[in-house]
Amino acid sequence: MSSEAPPPFTERMLGMLEPAKLMTWAMSHYFRICAESVFKNGQILAPITQTRRLRDEAFGNFWVEFSSQPQRLMSPDPTTNQPPQPVGSSALIPPLLKTASGTVLDVGPGTGTQMPLLTSPSITSLYGAEPCTGLHAELRTRAIAEGISEKYYILPCGAAAAELIPALKATGTGVVDKYEDDASAGVFDTILCVRVLCSVPQMERTIGELYGLLKPGGRLLVTEHVVNPWWRAKGSFVARIAQGVYQFFGWSWFIGDCCLTRDIEGALSRAAEVDGGWESFELERSFEWSAMPYISGTLVKKGL
Ligand SMILES: C[S@@+](CC[C@H](N)C(=O)[O-])C[C@H]1O[C@@H](n2cnc3c(N)ncnc32)[C@H](O)[C@@H]1O
Repeated sequence: MSSEAPPPFTERMLGMLEPAKLMTWAMSHYFRICAESVFKNGQILAPITQTRRLRDEAFGNFWVEFSSQPQRLMSPDPTTNQPPQPVGSSALIPPLLKTASGTVLDVGPGTGTQMPLLTSPSITSLYGAEPCTGLHAELRTRAIAEGISEKYYILPCGAAAAELIPALKATGTGVVDKYEDDASAGVFDTILCVRVLCSVPQMERTIGELYGLLKPGGRLLVTEHVVNPWWRAKGSFVARIAQGVYQFFGWSWFIGDCCLTRDIEGALSRAAEVDGGWESFELERSFEWSAMPYISGTLVKKGL
């Protein structure tokens, strides 16, 4: 289902430049980190021999800065008492995350931007799997500020099961005990994937593993940018080309391995084939005219 009409031509073309703005910003962090290594720390070869470390550090700094920017908000409607609402892709997230409940996994929480949406008492425990350790201090501070630090566990790992299961065990909460006796029991009532499946290595496999960690009847809440569906009526061939150009000029390198051209919807659909499909698969498509089209919605795993 597609949700909105495309904006006028000029706005659409300007929208194509949105990723360029982000990439330039992230690049400035990368070059600053490289320059510091070489000129301040005397690690002349670091940009060649320690690229992973420098990229992670630069992305961490970029993301802390980016996510501390005030959110773009719509002017409040004077006829209602509603507070100003987020706009753009950020508007897709609150209605979705407010439905999270039970034992929850937040895949790649970053600095915890979404944490204010996760304070409901119906969430019994919250695990944030964040491999970029440079973001953990912000995450911890945010959990305290939101009053959920007692039930928030930061996992220093990615979303792959081989990393996630040991990290979950290390929390000492016993959250994986049942799963280890019987994998069909799953672990989580809700898994959140907000702007993260674009970055995970081996996406298809990781999504399959996340599916395996959902309890029967569990829900995957998704807000992700995806490859432009240029072959559909609302898609855009120009935006698809723009995505390729950004990828070519180093988008993934500078933006924490993010990829603009993933068919995440297809991978999500295939993940449940082992059980004959999802109980329910409801995804809304937005901004299909742009270089960052989104899918957003709830997928429910079949019950036992
Ligand atoms: C674009 S940020 C989104 C952060 C957060 N979900 C939000 O909406 O603000 C992507 C996050 O995914 C994390 N990430 C990258 N690879 C990952 C992986 N394999 N598993 C889990 N998280 C990962 C990054 O470190 C980063 O914090």
